[in-house]
Formats: sequence, structure tokens, C-alpha cells
Amino acid sequence: MKQVLKQNPVSGVFKCLVRSVTNVFLHEGRLQLHSEKLGKPLCFYNVWLRDHCRCNECYHVRTNQRLFDILKLDQDSVSKINKACVKEDLLTVSWADGHKSTYSINWLLQHTHQLKSRNSLELWDSSNLKIDYYPYEKFMSCDKVLRDFLVAMVSKGVAIVSDVPPSVIKTRETVERLSPVMKTFYGEMWEFSDNLEYSDTAYTSDAIESHTDTTYMLQSVGIQVLHCLKHNGEGGENTLVDGFNCVKQFKNESYQGYNMLSSLSTPGEYIDGERHYKCDLPMLLHNQENELIRVRYNTHDRAPLETVPPTLIPEYYRHLIHLTKIIRNPKNVYLLKLTPGNVIFMDNWRILHGRLAYTGARVMTGCYIDRSDFESSARFFNVLP
Ligand SMILES: [Fe+2]
Ligand SMILES: [Zn+2]
Repeated sequence: MKQVLKQNPVSGVFKCLVRSVTNVFLHEGRLQLHSEKLGKPLCFYNVWLRDHCRCNECYHVRTNQRLFDILKLDQDSVSKINKACVKEDLLTVSWADGHKSTYSINWLLQHTHQLKSRNSLELWDSSNLKIDYYPYEKFMSCDKVLRDFLVAMVSKGVAIVSDVPPSVIKTRETVERLSPVMKTFYGEMWEFSDNLEYSDTAYTSDAIESHTDTTYMLQSVGIQVLHCLKHNGEGGENTLVDGFNCVKQFKNESYQGYNMLSSLSTPGEYIDGERHYKCDLPMLLHNQENELIRVRYNTHDRAPLETVPPTLIPEYYRHLIHLTKIIRNPKNVYLLKLTPGNVIFMDNWRILHGRLAYTGARVMTGCYIDRSDFESSARFFNVLP
């Protein structure tokens, strides 16, 4: 990826805020920044500020790693502020031990917990999903198009690169424009038809209910990429379901069920020859702000249910059936026939995918992208914080 867009721009929300911060107050171990545009002052604890000093002595500009030793904070003078002032868009702090720190107000606004905001998600169902298509030539050569693609991936969880020459090599090239291809026991790029090469329904021509992949891995794969290289026959439409939207409906209909599937583990496993993968995590995973960040839903890959106490078993099944009905409700299932040239990217932490049964010969290729690699690319283009 070219180093063109990497910078720390002042995002739209913060732009008007930066200049509005004019006053600073010191108050019992913390510093407050005041702005007429904010209802409440922004509060930064002294220890946090000292730990986040970005001077050459405290932070290595080339490796972007901290040099400051955390144990220094044990001395009172290290986290005691003598003086602080704001000038233009900089906060300058003089510490009791003689050290001096300068912080960009923009940087402080971007990293305070008080203003931490979630990326805007566009939840969808079968009636309102509009998949965005990005032509191959532009996707490969124009960073703005790649960035737009990433914005779509983050907001809708799905996007398509169109007009890709239908071959494994060109599909790989398309993926690598974004991130490295993830290596798993399936290999890197795979090509499959109904040949049962692996013990998985994906390798047959039967219908597959919507699911997320690799629920048996500790970190399920981040992005799923599919490209239909050839199909002469009927059927085989892909199903796409917005897992986050289904969970929202589920939470509205059964708060108890939502809580149970968010707290009790639903283990997934994969057993084949020498391999035995297993992951014991809840189906619905949240961050510390209690926002849903990952759905692990695959009823076929479930391991024996040893994680649920016996008295809760009937209730657990009631909730799992309830969620499954929402996931299979046609209102939530978007149907899409994949055709040669269209490479679909799906957020495997959010979007469930499946397939209707088909006839004839069908050849698919695809691969996975590791979550960390995908997020790194999105962050590089300032699409993720
Ligand atoms: Fe799958
Ligand atoms: Zn420093």
C-alpha cells in the first residue's frame, strides 16, 4: 500500500473543537480542558498525561514505542504538574521533576475516553441493503477508491470489487491490494467445487444455512472473500445476513436471551484427521463499552455443549432457536447470485453467509483475511480509529 494518506488528520468532529479549547485548570491530580463547544470539561489525569508524553525522551519517534518507564510514576514529582497552559492547538505542561511535555490538543481529543465514538454502522436487512461495487482497475490503482471500499466494509460489512478477471491469481491480486491473504489449514487461496476435499458442507452442492466461518478458532477469521469463477447450472445464490441487525432485533424481543448468549459460551469445533480446533467463547462478543463487536454463529460447527449449567439448558435452547428464527427470517436474508468477475468481501465478525443448493458445475475461489491485517489497512486510511 502506498504511503499517501497516512497522516493524523483533524477529523471533522474535532476540527471545530480544537480551536475552541482555550482554558486549562489544574485540580487534584488532574487537568481539565475547557471549551465553550463542550458541555463538560475534558478531564486528563496527571499520571495518564505523563505516561503519554510524546517527547524524544519518553517516546521513540521512529519505532513509535514508549521509552518512558511506568515505574517512574511511583514518584510523586513525576506526576505532579507545576504549570500548564494552552496556546493555539498545543497544551504545554511543566512537571515538578523539571520535565516538560507538549501535547497537540487534536491528539488529546482523539484519545480521550470521554469522546470515544464508535464507527457508524449501517444496519441492513433484505429490503434496504445496497451493495457497493468498486471496479477492479480503479480499486487497484486509486487510493481514494480503496478508502471508499474500506468505508463500505466498515459501515455495511460487505462490498464487491467488480470486473476482476475470473482466475485465482487475479482474485489474489485483488485481495492483496488490501491485506495479505491469511494462511490457515485450508491453505491460502482455495478453489472449491463439490469434491469434499475437506470435511465441510461448503465442499458439497447442498444448501448451507447462514453462518459465520471458523467459530472454532480463538480469533475467527476477519474477512471472507469469495469469487465464483464458473457456474453452468441453476441455483447457488448466496445468502447474506447482517448479524448485528439480527442481534439488535433479538435484544429487543428477548433481553434475557441476548444476555445469555452474550455471557455463556457456545463452543465451536473442527475435527478432521490430526486437527482438532476448539473455541470456547460466547456467540455474542462485546467490547468494554458493551457494544457488540463479533458474532460467532454456526450451528453446524458447535462442539458438545459443556459450558451451560444443566438448569439453564432448556432456556439456552429456547434462546438459540429464537435467534436462529430471526437469522432465517426472509426479511433478514439478502440473496445474491455471485457471477464471474465479482469478488465479494464479507466481514466475518458481523455478516453471516450461506448458499442455496445448486445444480451443474460450479467453481469458486476465495480466501480469508486476518482481522488484525484488515483493521490495520482500515486504520492506515483513517477509516478506523
Ligand atoms: Fe462459510
Ligand atoms: Zn517526555
